[in-house]
Amino acid sequence: MHLPAPRGPLSAHLVDVLAGEVVLDATSVAAARAAAGTSAPLTDDDLHLSLWMLYELHYRGFDGVDDGWEWEPQLLAVRRELETVYERALRTACRKAVDAGVAAAGPDADLPEQLFGLVSSFDGPSLAKHLHREATAEQFKEVLVHRSIYQLKEADPHTWTIPRLPDGPKVALVELQYDEYGAGRAHRQHAHLFAEGMATCGLDRTYGAYVDAVPGLTLALSNAMSLFGLHRRLRGASVGHLAALEATSSLPCKKYVGGIRRLDLPEEIAEYFDEHVEADAVHEQVAVRDICGALVEQQPELRTEVLFGAAACLLTDSLLAEHVLTSWQLGLGSLRQPQQTEAVA
Ligand SMILES: [Fe+2]
Ligand SMILES: [Fe+2]
Repeated sequence: MHLPAPRGPLSAHLVDVLAGEVVLDATSVAAARAAAGTSAPLTDDDLHLSLWMLYELHYRGFDGVDDGWEWEPQLLAVRRELETVYERALRTACRKAVDAGVAAAGPDADLPEQLFGLVSSFDGPSLAKHLHREATAEQFKEVLVHRSIYQLKEADPHTWTIPRLPDGPKVALVELQYDEYGAGRAHRQHAHLFAEGMATCGLDRTYGAYVDAVPGLTLALSNAMSLFGLHRRLRGASVGHLAALEATSSLPCKKYVGGIRRLDLPEEIAEYFDEHVEADAVHEQVAVRDICGALVEQQPELRTEVLFGAAACLLTDSLLAEHVLTSWQLGLGSLRQPQQTEAVA
């Protein structure tokens, strides 16, 4: 994967550092602090592209960039500046949704009931409904482009959490991830099915191909998962995030399939979503009860963290849906325009 086009002072600096054109020093942390001062920490382009680049050093890295950067202390200091402000903003933005979910579940509810209460009481726009009934084929492909940022590494961010869990929840998470990774068949990996679907729709299936095309909020959605997955202290949030992801997948995926059939898009992309209709109805139960429920039984102090992670999943997803639907209502595309990409390159 190539280094992306920068979108502001910090991402420009980091691209230069990783490319070996400037030296990493104290000014890097100062630049991170300045970027973290943004008034829009949930969506800011420069902040989230920078954070995404730093996280990708832990996944697949970049062409021509030394793998040794992954654990470079000063780069981690830069990352921490960005993570601190993003995590704080997520916690603030999620508070209401968590309270509403807990209230909806009732005073005697256990953690699984609270998670289901949170999911059902969360008020967000439905992208799936629009894709089912109204979207054009071009709009559908736009959504695939947004989704490719996470879906081409589907399951990877939550895998970081496996060694951080006690035995029962750990085994349940491994069982779930085994399915995500194709149950022993490389060609059935969900990330692979998604890549196949993209290719048959005429899109570039290469990992990271569309990073320059998506707005900061799409990168933020992926960044939330990496943030939770890469910190042991956030293991509760990571599994809560997974539970909400699985609990909001089966029915929407059915609608996606309906939209694909209506638009006569290739069978391969229908197959990806179809795979999730049944699988995620099962995964939802595993994630909510056998992972999150069992974890909170053993480590009750993580209850609020699990709910926070679930709310963060719903929130970041709804910010993307809102952006996409609003853009379309205005007759615009939801991806970054070529001139935006070029202006900062
Ligand atoms: Fe999946
Ligand atoms: Fe799943």
